[in-house]
Parts: sequence; structure tokens; C-alpha cells
Amino acid sequence: MGLARNMLIAASQSRWLREHAMRWRFVRHASRRFMPGERQEDALAAARELATLGIGSTLSRLGENVTEAAEAEAVADHYINVLAAMQAAGLAGSLSVKPTQLGLDLDANLCERNLERILVASEKVASEKSAGDKRGMILIDMESSAYVDRTLELFRRARARHSHVGVCLQSYLRRTPADLDSLLPLGAAIRLVKGAYHEPASIAYPAKRDVDEAYFALARKLLSAESLAAGARAGIGTHDPKLIARIIELINSQGVAKSRIEFQMLYGIRRDLQRKLAADGWPVSVLISYGTYWFPWYMRRLAERPANVWFVLKNMFG
Ligand code: FDA
Repeated sequence: MGLARNMLIAASQSRWLREHAMRWRFVRHASRRFMPGERQEDALAAARELATLGIGSTLSRLGENVTEAAEAEAVADHYINVLAAMQAAGLAGSLSVKPTQLGLDLDANLCERNLERILVASEKVASEKSAGDKRGMILIDMESSAYVDRTLELFRRARARHSHVGVCLQSYLRRTPADLDSLLPLGAAIRLVKGAYHEPASIAYPAKRDVDEAYFALARKLLSAESLAAGARAGIGTHDPKLIARIIELINSQGVAKSRIEFQMLYGIRRDLQRKLAADGWPVSVLISYGTYWFPWYMRRLAERPANVWFVLKNMFG
């Protein structure tokens, strides 16, 4: 299992595979399991459909490690247009953005300027919406461990100016409890996930059960009376039914209002659970990815559950 995961994550970093596999029809077809389509319109249509089930959505255009400043600026422009399109479609306007897609590899200031433009545009969209509408959040994704310090710095600087910005933390990283402690006094919006990159054991827990236990401990901290009083907003980003059940039990035993947390999942994964939680009155939102640069992202989805490779093979021969 660990070997298959490592191989798939290594594949996600292969330029040759990216350039070739994205043209193979069976791979393109299989990738549709996790994305409604490559176009922004496909993502918006999926978001509208989820809204009919009482499920919110967050849009994210696929892309990472951009190498040209103009490309990073174009990504910010794209997101600003998407916010307007989401508003026109009656959606809250939440986005998930990757720092390296906004230029972090090139220049931290460039990345910050691009994020700032998105945040300002989303504030404008929110202020134009009718009163009572839930304001969209701009969530900063967490990439591999080499980016954690720079990503947290980016978040802190943005948080000093805006309240509708959040950041993702990964429970597999040994450093995350300390990071969470440092962010909680900011009243931060945190999306907790397990982590999707290949990291050495010195940095991340290699065993799944340790990652799961670390997740629960972090969720407990994020949902403590002290954190909630400081204004923390908890995004529980997992499809793990056991963890979700433990977290619901925790919330119920503490008497925390359902509205203080949001269960967050990826498009196409555990739709049954997404619907069940929403039907039970829990806030649920789905991260919808779209765009043409889907190969590394899709390989990470396969790595999360190597059994998914059978699905690809079925598409190849089916
Ligand atoms: P786990 O892997 O234990 O899976 C639990 C169950 O969910 C499985 O038994 C299966 O039923 C189902 N499942 C999970 N993944 C599946 C898949 N790919 N295909 C089919 N079924 C699957 N990571 C990161 O490093 N940085 C980030 O910024 C983000 N952002 C992010 C946002 C949101 C909203 C989510 C939900 C996830 C992320 N992730 C992420 C990905 C995250 O780190 C993690 O890799 C996946 O969520 C899979 O882990 P689970 O918590 O679902 O548990």
C-alpha cells in the first residue's frame, strides 16, 4: 500500500507522464470521477447542483508551481472573474487557492499581491450581495512541507487585513500542533486535512493510524471552548467516516453549535456521506476542482486510495 502510494506520488511529479498521460483518453475519462469537467462552467454547474442539496461549494482551478509572473497574475485575474460568475449564479463565492499557483516559487511578494487582489475582489462581491447571504471564504491550500513556513506567513499577513481568509493544516506533519497553537489566537479559519504529499518520516507520520490520531487531537483543540471563543472556524476536511463520527460525538458532548464547524470533502468522493451529513443539518461544502492542469492533482487522488487505479484500468479496457 505504502509503495503504491509513493509510486503514484512520484508519478504526480513526472513531467514526461504529465505531458503524455493527459492526452490519453482513458486517463482523461477516469479523472472525471473527481472533477465535473475542465471548464469553469462545468464547476459552476456542479456547484449549482450541490446547492439544491443544501451543500456549499468551493472552487479551485487546478495548477501549481507556476514559473512565470504573468501566469501567476493571470490565475488571480481568472479567480476574480470566477468570483463574479459565482455571485451571478447565487453562490457564496468560496475559493481554494494554491500559493505556488499564485507565484510563491517566484517571489513571495508577487504571491501576496495576487492573493490580496483576490481577497479584495471577494470582499467587493460579498458587499454587493443581498444582506443575509453567507460570505464566501478564500482558503489557502497547504502544499508540500517545504512551503509550510512561507504559506503560514502568507496567511498571517493576509489575516491581518481580512477575516474571510483561512489556511489548511495537515495532520501528518509532526509540526502541525505547534502551528495550530500559534494560529488559534488569530481567530483563524482552519481547514484540517490529513495531507496528500510524500514526506520523509522525520517530518510526517508514516503510519496512517498516527495521522488519524493526530487529526482527532487537532480537531479537539480546534473545537475547544477556548479556540471557539477566540473566533476559530473549523473546517473538517476529511472523508473518513470513523473520524467524522468521533468528531460529531465530541461536538455533541461539548454542546458546540453545528454552525461552528463545516465538513469539507472533495467532489466525487463519498457523495453518500456528503448528502447524509447535509440531511442531518451539518454544514457541508465540497471542493470542486476544474481546469486543464489536472495530472499531478489526479495522481494524488489515486495515491490516497490506490484501489482507484482499478478504476483507471477499467476505463482503459472497458
Ligand atoms: P482517508 O484517506 O483515510 O480516507 C477515508 C475514506 O474516504 C476512504 O476509506 C475512502 O472511502 C474515501 N476516500 C478518501 N480519498 C479517496 C479517494 N481519493 N478516492 C476514493 N475514495 C477516497 N491535502 C493537502 O495536502 N493539502 C491541501 O490543501 C488539501 N486540501 C484539501 C481540501 C479538502 C476539502 C479535502 C477534503 C482534502 C484536502 N486535501 C489536501 C487532501 C487530504 O490531505 C487527503 O489526502 C484526502 O482528504 C484523503 O484523506 P481522508 O481524510 O479522506 O482520509
